[in-house]
Amino acid sequence: MGEFVRSERRGAVLVVTIDRPKALNALNLQVLQELEAVLADVGDARALVLTGGGEKAFVAGADIAAMAELDALTAHRFAAYGQSVLDKLEALPIPTIAAVNGFALGGGCELSMACDMTLASATAVFGQPEVKLGVIPGFGGTQRLVRRVGTQRARELCFTARNVKAEEAVAIGLALRVVAGNVVDEAVALGESIAANGPVAVQLCKRAILDNDGQPLGAALVAERQLFALCFATADQKEGMAAFLGKRKASFVGK
Ligand code: CAA
Repeated sequence: MGEFVRSERRGAVLVVTIDRPKALNALNLQVLQELEAVLADVGDARALVLTGGGEKAFVAGADIAAMAELDALTAHRFAAYGQSVLDKLEALPIPTIAAVNGFALGGGCELSMACDMTLASATAVFGQPEVKLGVIPGFGGTQRLVRRVGTQRARELCFTARNVKAEEAVAIGLALRVVAGNVVDEAVALGESIAANGPVAVQLCKRAILDNDGQPLGAALVAERQLFALCFATADQKEGMAAFLGKRKASFVGK
């Protein structure tokens, strides 16, 4: 367990908390390294929930005090490393859910978008405020924001640096829904509902969507039918279909 990133199992779901509340969970090198270490070993978890510690923030961005010291070369290294950690999060085989419980600004918004889905508390605030600091998003914001909300909206948010509250985040596709109660509990419940399904099939669904984002439809459909066929080499496919035909609940083994 790191100083700033901790993880705990809640049933089939791994809950990962970035916990550096004095800096509103800002991402410095150590936080990124600890997050990378947690992502490298998710065990047999069937879903991952990512959230922020404390009352106010998911993650308020990359660490501005640390970035203030950078030159062009070290800034490039910092962005490359941050991007690589977020790429690992995005590429995790299991579904990931950002439970956004306050500020998700800059690197925090980017972190939420590297997750498969985002649930927002009523107090969640999203945004890419980097241009206020004289920089641009560096952990994938200019690219994943376009994919989430479309080119025009992404341009508006990046150029204006304005904050987006929870309801609007849902309206523009930055978050899936606003949660009235505890957003982590709700994210865990969502993770558990996913975990009840065939785990290999869920992972292959994720692959089919992620790996083919931006591909021409023809090539993407080829990839889809190959993954569909692969399901038929699993015990879970036999079990899932036998359970349906036998009018009973499936008992998946994840193979
Ligand atoms: N980096 C470092 N420290 C941060 C931080 C950040 N991104 N965000 C907040 N903090 C620190 C503050 O400096 C403050 O520390 P002290 O108590 O030691 O002064 C503490 O967290 C609490 O913050 P505030 O007093 O500012 O809290 P607030 O409630 O008044 O405001 C806020 C909250 C609106 C989120 C404000 O803190 C803020 O604007 N933070 C910066 C947000 C931002 O610009 N994020 C983008 C960073 S750039 C980036 O992420 C680049 C990239 O893409 C890789």
